[in-house]
Amino acid sequence: MMNSVVLARRPIGNPVETDFAVREEPIPSVPDGHFLTRNDFISLDAGFRNWMNEDSGDEVLPAMALDAPVMGLVLSQVITSRHPAYSVGDRLMARFAWQTHSLSDGSDFIAPLPRELEFNPSAYMGVLGDTGMSAYFGMTDIGKPTAADCVLISGAGGAVGSIAGQIAKLAGARVVGIVGSQAKAEWICSTLGYDAAVIRSGNQPLSQAIADACPDGVDLFFDNVGGQTLEAAISNMNHRGRLALCGAISGYGVAPHGPNNLFEVVTKELSVEGFMTHFRHERYEEAREELSAWLRDGTIQSPEYQLEGIERVGKAFADLFAGENFGKTIVAL
Ligand SMILES: NC(=O)c1ccc[n+]([C@@H]2O[C@H](COP(=O)([O-])OP(=O)(O)OC[C@H]3O[C@@H](n4cnc5c(N)ncnc54)[C@H](OP(=O)(O)O)[C@@H]3O)[C@@H](O)[C@H]2O)c1
Repeated sequence: MMNSVVLARRPIGNPVETDFAVREEPIPSVPDGHFLTRNDFISLDAGFRNWMNEDSGDEVLPAMALDAPVMGLVLSQVITSRHPAYSVGDRLMARFAWQTHSLSDGSDFIAPLPRELEFNPSAYMGVLGDTGMSAYFGMTDIGKPTAADCVLISGAGGAVGSIAGQIAKLAGARVVGIVGSQAKAEWICSTLGYDAAVIRSGNQPLSQAIADACPDGVDLFFDNVGGQTLEAAISNMNHRGRLALCGAISGYGVAPHGPNNLFEVVTKELSVEGFMTHFRHERYEEAREELSAWLRDGTIQSPEYQLEGIERVGKAFADLFAGENFGKTIVAL
């Protein structure tokens, strides 16, 4: 049998476990021109919350339908193929759905992986997957940290942030992370090598907390959160500072708040650049090679928050928004 996690109702604000339900159905037969995969891991990615509201479709993806399998990234292996480009045993990172099996005609977003994996397969959903590569492209293409920089990262202990911080440290920068709890603050410093942490829900305004942690100002801000966090960061940027905008989780599915100080982009002559990792898919191999080299020699860690079983996928997704995850959120099937 095949299990799918469907959108049982549209989340209001942050998603909760009961917004999702598991449905069981027979494994479909494979028509000509299609292939069937067994999915070994599901990657939970905050950005998919964007397409769960009614009428939320945009140039990237359509709005998700109620009672239909939830779109998401999976690590798959082809088990039956009637498609000329895919053979039994091929491993794929693909944008299919939260399912134990997927039937595809090859038109989904698919990134092939080597058949023999050097690292634990879950790493190909995290540090070597979309989120690790987001950290890589955001830092190496846009942020370009140097040893002279103070780098500030929001969502610092999450899937992207945990890797982005380590890449900035490799460049010799002073790296400060914004997180949601004292426990995560201690963890990003002790395990990931951050120099300091700011707790976003602390006693003082975020802007002041950043100023205290970055007394010489911020040269590069790598943002995963948006809204008021972005506003607080802008107010601490140095002249000619750079902002690499990776995500805006605080505004997914809810009315965003701010930033209300964009004129500072003008007065401080800031550079602001956003990016979408999947538009760089022709460079995935380059990113994977470099990240693999760092992983192989132990230069970077690959922290994971891993749950087990299709019935825990909804909880794992909700945990992202509650800040429960330390590192990449993955469900092993
Ligand atoms: N541009 C791209 O191509 C691309 C690709 C992948 C991901 N992304 C973006 O990268 C960001 C991270 O995504 P992810 O899936 O890897 O998640 P993640 O960082 O592993 O987890 C999300 C973290 O964000 C923090 N958070 C949650 N709700 C928040 C809120 N309302 N305000 C402030 N912080 C909040 C929580 O950490 P704390 O509680 O510790 O603050 C949580 O652990 C997202 O914005 C995502 O859209 C972009």
